[in-house]
Order: sequence, then C-alpha cells, then structure tokens
Amino acid sequence: MAIPEEVINEIKYRNDIETVMAPYVDLKRRGKNLVGLCPFHNEKTPSFTVYPENGSFYCFGCGVGGDVFTFTGLIENLDYIDSVRLLAEKSGIVLDENKYDNSMQKLKNTIYDINRETARFFHSYLMSEGGKWALDYLVGRGLSVSTIKHFGLGAAPDSWDALINHLKSKGFSIADMYQANVIGKSSSGKYYDRFRRRVMFPIINVRGNVVAFSGRAMPGDDKAGGKYVNTADTPVYKKSDNLFGMNFAKKDCAERIILVEGNMDVVSLHQAGFSNTVAALGTAFTPEQAKLLTKYTKEIVLMLDADAAGQKAMKRAGEILKNTGLKVRVVLVPDGKDPDEYIKKNGAARFSALLDGAVSEIEYKLLTAAADINTESDDGRLKYLSAAAEILADTPDVITRDIYIGRLSDKYGVSRTALESKIKDIRKGKIKEKEKKEFREIVNPTYKRDEVNPEKRQFPKAAAAEESIIAILLKHQDLIGFTADNLPSDKMITSLNKRIYSLILEAFFDGRDFDFSYISQFLSAAETGYLVSLQNSSTGDKNAKAELGDCIKILNSENDAKSLNGAKNMPTEEWADNLANIIKNKTKGNF
Ligand code: UTP
Ligand code: MN
Repeated sequence: MAIPEEVINEIKYRNDIETVMAPYVDLKRRGKNLVGLCPFHNEKTPSFTVYPENGSFYCFGCGVGGDVFTFTGLIENLDYIDSVRLLAEKSGIVLDENKYDNSMQKLKNTIYDINRETARFFHSYLMSEGGKWALDYLVGRGLSVSTIKHFGLGAAPDSWDALINHLKSKGFSIADMYQANVIGKSSSGKYYDRFRRRVMFPIINVRGNVVAFSGRAMPGDDKAGGKYVNTADTPVYKKSDNLFGMNFAKKDCAERIILVEGNMDVVSLHQAGFSNTVAALGTAFTPEQAKLLTKYTKEIVLMLDADAAGQKAMKRAGEILKNTGLKVRVVLVPDGKDPDEYIKKNGAARFSALLDGAVSEIEYKLLTAAADINTESDDGRLKYLSAAAEILADTPDVITRDIYIGRLSDKYGVSRTALESKIKDIRKGKIKEKEKKEFREIVNPTYKRDEVNPEKRQFPKAAAAEESIIAILLKHQDLIGFTADNLPSDKMITSLNKRIYSLILEAFFDGRDFDFSYISQFLSAAETGYLVSLQNSSTGDKNAKAELGDCIKILNSENDAKSLNGAKNMPTEEWADNLANIIKNKTKGNF
C-alpha cells in the first residue's frame, strides 16, 4: 500500500521530530541542531544528532538515521508502514487504507510469482535428462534425492535465455523479471539469464516465499562470475535480513541455532538431522540477521571453518551477537574442514559430540590465542598472558572476568592482583580510544559512509562523485530532471548509490516529491543514515549545478575506465556491444 504523499506530509507535520523523540532520547541544543546519547547503541559521548530544520536525524557513532518514521520504526521495532500507522493514530489522522493504490504490493507479489516459477523451472531442469550433470554433482556430494526435493534445489541450464523464454511463456514481463533480478541487462540493453550452468539454491523466507537464489558454479567453471552468484537486493529481498535455511530451522530451534558459513553446510546438516542450522548467505553476518535469530532462539552455536576467513567471521558475528542477549558458544571444526565435510567423514554422532563440546566465546578466544604460543617457556607464558589480558579486557561482565582471572592465575602461577591491574589498564586505554574514535566520527562523518558502501574502497573516485550527485539532488530537486537526462542510472558504479539514484529517478518520473521517508522503506537504517548524512553535508551548497556537471563527467570517465578493465572478464559478445556503446556515447559528445 502506498499512502499518498500529502497524507505522509500531514502525519509528519503533526509529529514533529523533537516531540516524537522526547520520551526516548534526552536531547540538548547545539547550534541549530540537537544532540543526545544514541538510543540504538551504547555510548558515553553524544553522537546522535537531530536536524529539526528538515526533520531528520543521524548517529555519527553507529550510522543509523532517517526521519520520524524511521526513528519510530527502529525504536518500536515496526516496519515502515506500521510506523506511519502508529504516528497517524497518535496525531488523530484516520488512514483509509483501501483507498490507496497498492502498486508496490502488486510488484512484490509478481516478484514472488516469478521467483516461485523460476525455482520450479530450475528444479525440473535438475531432475530432467538435461540437468544430469548437476544432479550427478549433488548426489556425488552426498545429498539424497529427498533432501534435494526438500530444499527445492535446482540447476540453471547453460544458456543465456532459457529462463527468459520460460518466464515469457508464463506471461511475465521482462521488466518484472529484471526487478526480480533473475535476469541481467548488458550495457547495450540486451537482457540475459543471470544464472547459467549453476546448481541453484532457492532462498525461502520464514513466510515460505521464494525471495532469492544462490547459484553455485560447477567445479572448474569458477571463471564464470565467481563461485556463487546471488540475487542482489530486490523489493522482496534484502540479503542482510535473511538467513539460508531459516524457513526450516524455525520449526526446530527453540533451544539453539547452529550458524554455519556455507549453503552446502546447511543442506548437509539438515539431511543429517540437524535442521536447526542456518547460514548467513555470504554477507558478513549482520545486526539484522542477529535480530531475526533472537525471535526464534536462545542460543547460537557459531560453527565456523577453520581458515583465517572463518576466524574473522566468527569475531564479527561474536561482536554483533554480544548485544542481543543470546547465549553464544563457538565450535571450531577440526582438521581445517567445513561442517559439511566433517559430518560426511565422521557421521552424526561425532558431530553431535562436537556440538556438545562448544565453548563460550571467551574460552574459544583464550584457546585460539594459545594455539601458536609455547606456554612452557617464561617468555611464551608472558606473551600468552598479555594476549589473554587483552581478551578479558574486552569482556564487559565483571563476574565472567573474575572467573577467568582465577583460572589463568592458577594455571600459570601469576597473582590475581597482577592480572587484574593489567586488565584494568587495558580497559582504561580502550575507553579513551573509543571516546577518541567517537570524536573523530563526529568531526569526520564520511568514516561511516565508507562502511555502508563497501564498494567505495574499490571505486573511490566514482563513489565520491556519486555521493556528491546524490547530496546535490537531495537538496536541489529541481536538478533531478537535468541529471536524469544526462546520467542513466546504470552509470552509477557502486550498487548502493545506483539503488538510491534509481529510487530518486523513480520518484521523479512518478511525479512524487523525493522524500526519504518513502525511500527508507527500501533501505536499511544505516543506509538511510548515510542518506541523511549526505543531505546534511555541505556538498552543493554553492554552485550546485556546476559541481553536478563535474561529477557527471567524472562518472562517465570512470565508467569508460571500468568497462575497459572489466572487458577481460566479459563474454565476447557483450564486450563488443559495450565498446560500441562507449564509442557511440563519445561521439554524441555527451560529457
Ligand atoms: P564457501 O566457499 O565455504 O561455500 O562459502 P560452500 O557453500 O561451503 O560451498 P562448497 O562446500 O565449496 O560447495 C560460504 C558461503 O559464502 C557465500 C555463499 O553463500 C557460500 O555458501 N559465497 C561464497 C558467496 O556468496 N560468493 C562466493 O563467491 C563465495
Ligand atoms: Mn563447503
């Protein structure tokens, strides 16, 4: 349901941001803005900033931001539409929801239909003569046909248009297929199947809808676009909000959920009877995924691969889970194996024992810290105790700290007081460091922007130009038309900015005012925060049009550079089209 802009504006007008926030945040005036301690993360110095001028807020500490609706959604744990309803109700506005058109819901339903049909197509291809190569592969990896059916696994044929043709025959439009992200578009505008010659894992949300796909390349085929190709974010799918296997795990996870890295691990552990297993879909584990887990379970067992990447992932997941109240234990799969290989080799009973031996996160860190230190020598012991003190200094709970201090002092023959004072020193230093960091973030907000848009590291110049363009368009809506004419959305290089820019253009072409309370429906809190920080930056305060022109030029030349680099990995046909395109644009004299 889309509520008309006038109604949204009316609700916003009647719920001024300071009043809405008052019960939750203690705000103090600083210049024309207000600041307070952020209600969304723990902090000692205020970095939560409210801009009454345009009704927005942004936290320089954790990067969340938005407007009254976003704030209400976050603090009351509601989705966008429910926070609109709540604020409408609070201010005595009656929403006649049947009156409003529901084009967004319609699109979502169509995408669900396309995904379901696509999953069916891939599955029947897998089970047909043509898909024998894929079935052989899956069976060769120990999956039974009934597991394959249970997960609805499939295979994408080695073709650029098999799926397009199938979906066409079922009456779906190209535009909708593209929105579902099952097909891609070359720079010359040709559409093609995104998944080709891959084993397909449909991703099914907790409501039972197919929301996305993850396609694994055949061994030896890895050149064809990476080991996995995944659905990008669509109107029905946000990668960071979903967990692979959660649709099944939710029925059997009141006590605990096993969190693994790979899709294959999930399928294989479910087959062995551990149906409380989920995977994070290749993204680094996110706070949204943690939140989903807290709805279903009390304890997480992190079961991670023994490689360096696994260790890093575990550290990150541990940090995020720390704030959820869930109990966290950790298992390191022995012999450098992943859980799938382990269970195949050692069986379910040994796997079960491995689970029972899961240790607390601190214990795990203490164990791994000891792994490559020889604690027999004085030197080694000293080194280990320093490392252990660092680990304990990171542990907020004083009783937990006390228990481990006792153990370490017994085991290594040092006094408790010595360990305690060492840990105290480290903690002091860390608190100072944190305060300094928070200060730096207030002074230099771009720091957070880079985290929201990780592709900025790869394309720093393009991303900076994109940010300026977005900032300018947020402030000067009268320039959107000009920009739309001169910069098609696929010229945006980083995918986050491309998504935001497309939403801006969409609003423009629909004749709506661009308003981030509307688009924040399609963005995470951190992404919305990113937008707010751009809107409140000084970019485009002067000579906006000239700056905009410069940025468009930069993006065009970055695109040319990128196409030339990317050409190596591109299928020949597409590469030729692409080159033709670059030349055509050049000769047209467009920037
Ligand atoms: P793994 O490489 O461990 O994959 O990546 P896997 O699923 O265990 O595959 P097998 O056992 O080699 O067949 C872990 C997860 O990271 C994501 C996928 O979700 C994968 O399941 N991933 C990995 C990607 O999204 N893209 C990649 O290129 C690689
Ligand atoms: Mn694996």
